[in-house]
Amino acid sequence: MSSSPCTQVFASAEEIADAAAQQFVELANERQGRFAVALAGGTTPRRTYELLAGKKFRDHVEWSKVHLFFGDERCVRQDHPDSNYRMAHEALISQVDIPHSNVHPINGHGDPATNAAHYEAELREYFRNSTKPAFDLVLLGLGEDGHTASLFPQTEALGVTERWVIENWVEKLQSYRITLTVPAINSGAHVTFLVAGANKAPAVSGVLNGRVQTENLPAQLIKPEAGTLTWLLDSRAASLLQKD
Ligand code: 6PG
Repeated sequence: MSSSPCTQVFASAEEIADAAAQQFVELANERQGRFAVALAGGTTPRRTYELLAGKKFRDHVEWSKVHLFFGDERCVRQDHPDSNYRMAHEALISQVDIPHSNVHPINGHGDPATNAAHYEAELREYFRNSTKPAFDLVLLGLGEDGHTASLFPQTEALGVTERWVIENWVEKLQSYRITLTVPAINSGAHVTFLVAGANKAPAVSGVLNGRVQTENLPAQLIKPEAGTLTWLLDSRAASLLQKD
């Protein structure tokens, strides 16, 4: 059973990004061999990726041992503005000396089920010595509705346990997403949420302090089996958390 979550509250989103970059560098340097990270999508993690590519952190990472995966992807081409790969490529991948073969995008173009199966096969090949995807670090965001990765409320993916990657129809978006499943995330050694903004405060409070309602707040499903769980929040996103 994992330890209880570690919640850290910062004054700003910039400080969250810096803390996340520091965790990335520390964990990468703790690993002797390959360092496998599942990147979060959306907008919040972009600054973390930019900092990792910046002069404070870039040269403190041995990029040749880092393998970048994605926690989820929109079903769009890689050059689409909504692509999580495009965001990470602009902010980080194109800015550091990481071997092309160490970057593992999810193909968002074409048939979602086929693309999910292909990504799962790629993960199973990479983690071939393990029965689970043993990410060293999984970065996650949180939606206002309590979703994380592309595990949206009331969607099929929430109950999938036998797959590592699944295509998920999201009714409210009227589109498919491709996402790591709950067990794939929960097998991570370190799982870290990056959440900023007052608009996220109700979801943060509901997920961390509210009654268990995982169908409505899927981020409640994120409980690493043996890894650490860290919430990096800014004061606005944490504003509804009960003071200790
Ligand atoms: C995505 C993300 C998603 C994101 C949240 C928060 O593909 O959109 O995986 O889970 O982390 O929606 O997004 P923001 O950081 O943009 O608020």
